[in-house]
Amino acid sequence: MINNDVISAVRNKANILEVVSQVVMLKRIGKDYKGLCPFHKEKTPSFHANPEKGIFKCFGCGEGGDVFAFVQKTKGLGFLDAVKELAHQFGVSVIETEQEKTEYKRRSLFLLLHEQACEFYGKLLKDPDQGAAARQYLASRGVEESTIKKFRLGLAPASWDALTDYLSTSNKVSAATLEEAGLSRSRTEGHGYYDLFRNRLIVPITDEQGRVIAFGGRTLGNDQVKYLNSPESLIYKKGEHLFAFSLAKDTIKAQDSVIVVEGYFDAITAHISGFTNTVATLGTALSNEQGKLLVRHTDSKRVYLAFDADSAGIKATEKGAQTLEQLAAGIGLDLRVVSIPGGKDPDECLRSPDGPSLFKQALENSQPLIEYELSQATASCNNQTRDGRIETARKVVPILARISNAVARSEYIRQIANKFDIQEDSLSSDVGSQRKEQTNRTNSQYTSKPISAKERFRPADGLIDAERWLIASFLSNKQNYELAFKSLSTEELMTTSHNKIIKTIYELGNGFNDTTDLERKLLDYFAPEPQISSALVEIVLKAEEIEKQKISVPVLLLQSRVKLMKERILALTKTIRNRLSSSNDSHETNLLQSKISELNRLERLTLPTITNMEEIEQVQEKLKEVVLSLNSTSGEGS
Ligand code: UTP
Ligand code: MN
Repeated sequence: MINNDVISAVRNKANILEVVSQVVMLKRIGKDYKGLCPFHKEKTPSFHANPEKGIFKCFGCGEGGDVFAFVQKTKGLGFLDAVKELAHQFGVSVIETEQEKTEYKRRSLFLLLHEQACEFYGKLLKDPDQGAAARQYLASRGVEESTIKKFRLGLAPASWDALTDYLSTSNKVSAATLEEAGLSRSRTEGHGYYDLFRNRLIVPITDEQGRVIAFGGRTLGNDQVKYLNSPESLIYKKGEHLFAFSLAKDTIKAQDSVIVVEGYFDAITAHISGFTNTVATLGTALSNEQGKLLVRHTDSKRVYLAFDADSAGIKATEKGAQTLEQLAAGIGLDLRVVSIPGGKDPDECLRSPDGPSLFKQALENSQPLIEYELSQATASCNNQTRDGRIETARKVVPILARISNAVARSEYIRQIANKFDIQEDSLSSDVGSQRKEQTNRTNSQYTSKPISAKERFRPADGLIDAERWLIASFLSNKQNYELAFKSLSTEELMTTSHNKIIKTIYELGNGFNDTTDLERKLLDYFAPEPQISSALVEIVLKAEEIEKQKISVPVLLLQSRVKLMKERILALTKTIRNRLSSSNDSHETNLLQSKISELNRLERLTLPTITNMEEIEQVQEKLKEVVLSLNSTSGEGS
């Protein structure tokens, strides 16, 4: 099991410089180690590694964390796998549960079987006799030796059980195991097993690190099923992987964009034509997991959706787009839809005369997703008749309503209104009501739980910073720790992860040696939680600033607390205003109004003149009273 002891042991051994250096060329500058950030494109180094603190931080893109976060982010692993990987690398023994051990062994076996199957298929394709027809077929599609090698293409023999035989004798595994791994099948009638892939061209599917985890097999005869794919298994989950991702990820990073196509051969041909930042979804709509895989590796987060021009492809675009749209909220994806020239799939387009340059042009002419959706929706609309215009409005309103940026929204509304001769005001008001409906729908999911003032307001950036400075005071040195410990026991922060950190500090009491030890203990404790970990890294850096710049912690504590208080008053005022706008009881209205004035007074008169902690406590008390009285009025109201 991975527990705190293991995490701490791994952290002590896995030197951040050594781990980072496997990916980044670090240069020593004074006490600092700098390099080119692996998480965004840059020409001058703004990525720092700090061996003393065991953390990294890029001042260009903001990415930061400890040694576990670094491995997770660069290798695409989950936390536990990152710990295991480092434990293995640095010789820390990890005691796992029996179940974990069995599963790990099973996964390793399945990976080994796939690797061997891949080699088996690869050999057959190279065979001068047996592979000739398949190689001929590949050549006719423009696939040459170097591409066969790069994608590790292969050939499954026409025999019933060649692979099953080969793998079970060479590894002493049962055919049942091969079935579980997705390579064989048991006969429905009679005994025995047969190969899943027979007389098919084999395209290996790999994970992010390039390990073979499944296969796709294209028929070479005229089988009804054009492509047969491995079933899901312990090592392969549909929708979690993207074809060619391991081959594309460096270019994706370097070019800061990714091209998503549907089919195996669309991706293969794209790579042949020089578009080596191409991956394929394998015929299904993009999943959340795939979306995340994509955006993790781009900085501008530009995603070109280059799906087939037939209707199924367009459906996939729309579905994938919705997934990505949801993901995009907060990440800032730049989604573009590519219309493949000539109504072909990317593979055919690229192999036609002038294909690559046409494709390149299509990328350049790609439309932002919303524009694409709008033009699709209005393609068959007729603005000459009244019914036509009504129909247009009906189709575009839901799309327009999804645009969250108000400026962009009204821009598109104006454009559509002009183009289709619709009244801009009416269109705008329809979009407005649709948006309201959508928000109500999303809000109503949470109605079972009353929304507290804290939840309703997302803390402002400045507030997050203030809270982090407060926590940093604990970590700079023992003297400051004492000061912070005394003055922050009543403080309740507005950010959940910050509250958890503070709570843990109080729970630890004096169970640590010096503040460096406290830092490590916190990092270990929160290592499995990426959000809290990255907050901690920011806090550790602030603690370092406090030391370096000899910042006075009493002043810092006071200022940060005043700032927090201000935010709290602001939030509370907003809550009361909201309640006021929905109240029609005059008694309640008066009461709420008086609370607002009280809060205003507190903010205007008290806060700027506060000079010591006692005064802060006093204001805090008054605030609590307001909250309490507010809760009791809401009780009367309902
Ligand atoms: P397509 O039918 O567009 O395949 O399906 P394609 O890539 O153009 O096929 P070629 O060019 O004739 O070789 C797109 C993708 O959907 C999946 C495959 O991943 C395919 O690449 N698919 C399609 C299947 O899994 N099974 C099928 O029977 C068909
Ligand atoms: Mn095709």
